[in-house]
Amino acid sequence: MNTIRTQVAIIGGGPAGLLLSQLLERKGIDTVVLERRSRDYVLARIRAGVLESGAVDLIREAGVGARMQREGIVHDGTFIAASNRGFRIDFRQLTGGSVMVYGQTELTQDLYQARDAMNGKILHEVDEVRIHGVDSDAAHVSFRWQGRERRIACDYVAGCDGFHGISRNTIPASVLREFERVYPFGWLGLLSATPPVSDELIYASHARGFALCSMRNPALSRYYLQVPLQDSVEQWSDELFWEELRRRLPAAAAETLVTGESVEKSIAPLRSFVAEPMRWGRLFLCGDAAHIVPPTGAKGLNLAASDVYYLSRALLQHYHEQDDHGIDDYSATALSRVWKAERFSWSMTRLLHRFPDQSDFDLRMQQAELEYLESSLAAQTALAENYIGLPY
Ligand code: FAD
Ligand code: DHB
Repeated sequence: MNTIRTQVAIIGGGPAGLLLSQLLERKGIDTVVLERRSRDYVLARIRAGVLESGAVDLIREAGVGARMQREGIVHDGTFIAASNRGFRIDFRQLTGGSVMVYGQTELTQDLYQARDAMNGKILHEVDEVRIHGVDSDAAHVSFRWQGRERRIACDYVAGCDGFHGISRNTIPASVLREFERVYPFGWLGLLSATPPVSDELIYASHARGFALCSMRNPALSRYYLQVPLQDSVEQWSDELFWEELRRRLPAAAAETLVTGESVEKSIAPLRSFVAEPMRWGRLFLCGDAAHIVPPTGAKGLNLAASDVYYLSRALLQHYHEQDDHGIDDYSATALSRVWKAERFSWSMTRLLHRFPDQSDFDLRMQQAELEYLESSLAAQTALAENYIGLPY
């Protein structure tokens, strides 16, 4: 068997794994990244688009912020629309902060480029990845690559392999606790090479269901519609999508919407999920491997970034200062922030979507909450400080 040795074995070459690898290697800590898919596959996935300022700072610290700095769009506020009316939440005025619109796909590309420039070890299309001995001093990872059995001996394993990865289930069932809510609808997303309908995002609550207008750049728009879970992409022609989006937007936006052929269209289910603990012995969970949020509020990628922040600090403290406090506290520190983002994403989802079993009372509560948000600077400030991201 072919065995290599590294300090930190990283399972998963998504944003969490790549960012962790980049931050550690820049400080002299050796890593190997194992990714199940090809690089082209990873780079074709269209996912998140909004970065909190904490994530932006971390990306800069990792030395991969140059293109984001040039091409990313700073947003100082967002629109909330309901019943053909809308109001703006001014992040800058209420909190002094802002967010950056820059696609996860672009960020992942920048990370791969930076890792290549440093001769980073990333193995693609690995199979049968298994984690061993993380509850002992002989941690290692076994896998198949290019038709051969391989093994990585390591000090630590970072499980950055997303919700469907294998890392989380390495933690014994007697230790692992999982908390979950599955929502009775999904988001149908459409990417189109058209100018965005608005300079800022529009989160729209409507009797027919939620809609979101987002963007990637001045010539590329990303729109979402709440759809029943049973719907398939094939049922939604581009024409149907645009027609439905227009119906759910305030008239002023619907009239100026520029439509075009879709570049990508996909349906994502909505789920809230947290696994505890996020550390077991020498294994750390990071990003979607440990938690999922419904996308309302754009927290998924940002939570992966804050986990990476805490974990990179903890590992640097271990290797450079022989101090294990960060490692010991990693799970509690990360989870404290994770649960607050879970709460925010759940509350935004509840506020803006139509639920199949909603009673008239529930609808009135939703309406009252929206009116309160519109009229109260205190409520707007609470939303804004969560949206721009709670401090690390
Ligand atoms: P991932 O990006 O999932 O990366 C994990 C990596 O591990 C993948 O590359 C995977 O191939 C690899 N992997 C899995 N299993 C193994 C294995 N056994 N061995 C080796 N490698 C493995 N968030 C938002 O904020 N806004 C959005 O609009 C949004 N849209 C989304 C749409 C979809 C369809 C999905 C799935 C997620 C979306 N998210 C969104 C969430 C956001 O994209 C994630 O939170 C973010 O990708 C988390 O990064 P990660 O690195 O933790 O996980
Ligand atoms: C995007 C996705 C979100 O979930 C969100 O809240 C804002 C923007 C996006 O893909 O652009």
